Amino acid sequence: MKKLVVFYSRTGTTSLVAQKIAEKINGDLEEIKDAKNRAGIIGFLRSGYEGARRKLTIIAETKYDPAQYDLIVIGTPVWAGNMSSPIRTYIVKNREKFNKVAFFCTLSMKDAPKIFQDMSETCQKEPVATAMFRRKEVIGNEFANKLNDFVSKIEAMGN
Ligand SMILES: Cc1cc2nc3c(=O)[nH]c(=O)nc-3n(C[C@H](O)[C@H](O)[C@H](O)COP(=O)(O)O)c2cc1C
Repeated sequence: MKKLVVFYSRTGTTSLVAQKIAEKINGDLEEIKDAKNRAGIIGFLRSGYEGARRKLTIIAETKYDPAQYDLIVIGTPVWAGNMSSPIRTYIVKNREKFNKVAFFCTLSMKDAPKIFQDMSETCQKEPVATAMFRRKEVIGNEFANKLNDFVSKIEAMGN
């Protein structure tokens, strides 16, 4: 089963988790880049606004064709309870090419109750697995169990 891990990361947390997942499932890794400056307070506020309003943005051209993969793992930071605008943009641009999907997010708080349902509705597909990683768990390298659970569910799809 061919797998692609697609992620966006503003400050590196989602990137760390995405890299670990890609290693474990032996998948290709696609980082989404967008054109907007998201640094500092202005960048933070802009990102929060786009998350809250479910806005799209402009993303750079991607490297891999999702149609060539059996499974796409999509990872995003939580912005104002929602997925980040670069990931929403990637999904909207590519969803017709998705086969199976799995979702993960990173966040500061304990929960983002709507995020996976929103990702699922935006993809127009139910995920085979989902996982939430708290930023402090990722920074403290305390997310191995959650990661292994998520990876096992993904691997089970290939059997
Ligand atoms: C604009 C903005 C809005 C955020 N909103 C939330 C939120 O609603 N809930 C939450 O738990 N964390 C929120 N966070 C925290 C991030 O989701 C968290 O730090 C995440 O791990 C950052 O991922 P990254 O380092 O890959 O960018 C927000 C962060 C930003 C920048």
